[in-house]
Amino acid sequence: MLQAGGPAMGKDFFDREEEIKEAMGSLEKDNILLISPRRHGKTSLMREVVRRLRNK
Ligand SMILES: Nc1ncnc2c1ncn2[C@@H]1O[C@H](COP(=O)(O)OP(=O)(O)O)[C@@H](O)[C@H]1O
Ligand SMILES: [Mg+2]
Repeated sequence: MLQAGGPAMGKDFFDREEEIKEAMGSLEKDNILLISPRRHGKTSLMREVVRRLRNK
């Protein structure tokens, strides 16, 4: 079976600042639908959003 790396977390996560802000802003009042091809960083992005919201 093909082994691929898991989501980028903590210090391995970089950039995506605009996407993080946009997702966090939208989540204040709406659900969001995140669409991109596989391995473009959706899970990593949302894990970072969760991390930041927990720290709030
Ligand atoms: N923000 C990021 N910083 C560093 N690496 C990333 C980032 N986003 C994705 N990656 C890399 O891309 C791979 C796929 O990301 P992942 O979040 O699993 O994508 P998806 O959920 O869209 O399939 C990860 O294993 C990681 O190596
Ligand atoms: Mg994923």
